[in-house]
Amino acid sequence: MKAYNWGILGTGNIAHKFARALMLLDNAHLYAVGSRDAGRAEKFAGEFGFSRHFGTYEEMLADPGVEVVYISSPHSMHMEHTLMALRNGKHVICEKPMSITAAEVSLMSDEARRSNLFLMEALWPPFQPSYLKAEEILRSGKMGRLLHMRGKFAFVSPYDPELRTYNLALGGGSLLDIGIYPVMDILRYLGEPENIVATSVFAPTGADESTAMIFRFSDGRMAEAYSSFGNMGGVSTEFYCEKGNLILTRGRDRNQHLIIEMQGDVDDRIFTPPAQGYQYEAAEVMNCLDHGLAESPVVPLSFSLSLARILDEVRRKTGIRYPGRDR
Ligand SMILES: NC(=O)c1ccc[n+]([C@@H]2O[C@H](COP(=O)([O-])OP(=O)(O)OC[C@H]3O[C@@H](n4cnc5c(N)ncnc54)[C@H](OP(=O)(O)O)[C@@H]3O)[C@@H](O)[C@H]2O)c1
Repeated sequence: MKAYNWGILGTGNIAHKFARALMLLDNAHLYAVGSRDAGRAEKFAGEFGFSRHFGTYEEMLADPGVEVVYISSPHSMHMEHTLMALRNGKHVICEKPMSITAAEVSLMSDEARRSNLFLMEALWPPFQPSYLKAEEILRSGKMGRLLHMRGKFAFVSPYDPELRTYNLALGGGSLLDIGIYPVMDILRYLGEPENIVATSVFAPTGADESTAMIFRFSDGRMAEAYSSFGNMGGVSTEFYCEKGNLILTRGRDRNQHLIIEMQGDVDDRIFTPPAQGYQYEAAEVMNCLDHGLAESPVVPLSFSLSLARILDEVRRKTGIRYPGRDR
């Protein structure tokens, strides 16, 4: 089995979780970490056993040993850092959202294709055991046709204009940060909507604190999505089908639940993947590379582009703006 040398760009919250997940994979070599700060890079390398650490992203990306890079900087920097990694000949998995606008996602995809390098948006739900089980049930036909979907992602992020969640310069706002998840689920199962109604409530920085969306599809089906940094609404996606309902949710304990409601019975299945399941998306990257694929069949670049297009349209409807980044 070929082992891949991983490089991690950024040493924040999610980089820690991803590094911990990489440690579970025999074919992942924790090779290098790059930070804006040499001390932070050294500390992170020591914590997880990375062989090399760099005080700039440029130095890490110039290291010829690095084969695959995980981009974990704030959203507003995903494009710059992904392009930098690709131009240094590295395969890339980039945190969600892939970038701020669909035009930027398109540019990143073009660069990856031109360079014949792997690129995937780090959308972890489709690789989780609860999702795979839900997909199996939906595909089996025993729930009948999927008629409607409702998804939400809401938690309290106390207001601080400097925080990543509220600072527009870092891509702040609930839609791109967490609303992307219910929208992603709706896109996966119902496709691209023909009409979107949406509205947002804004924080003083101009970031959307909350966004509510209704999608209508050409076949008459509808779906609802909601994101918020203003309440503890939690995380769930509900599938209303002809013969019953499926609910994918995450408990406060971080366990994944798949609730199957059918003919009065409620079956609550609990999944507790190690490292919160972040290893599965990393395994997908290496599996694709093993098979000479430059895109994941599960999360292809066309999917990321469709997702970004929907988010653009929601933003157009609600007035969410990122100065200097809008079309
Ligand atoms: N998949 C998931 O479940 C999940 C969960 C959380 C977040 N995310 C995504 O991951 C990305 C990072 O989120 P996070 O929560 O890890 O954020 P975070 O804790 O703030 O970490 C971001 C890191 O980016 C680097 N960075 C570079 N320029 C920066 C700047 N100007 N300001 C702040 N940080 C800068 C920093 O690393 P250095 O200082 O070491 O350079 C920082 O530690 C976001 O795009 C977010 O959407 C995904």
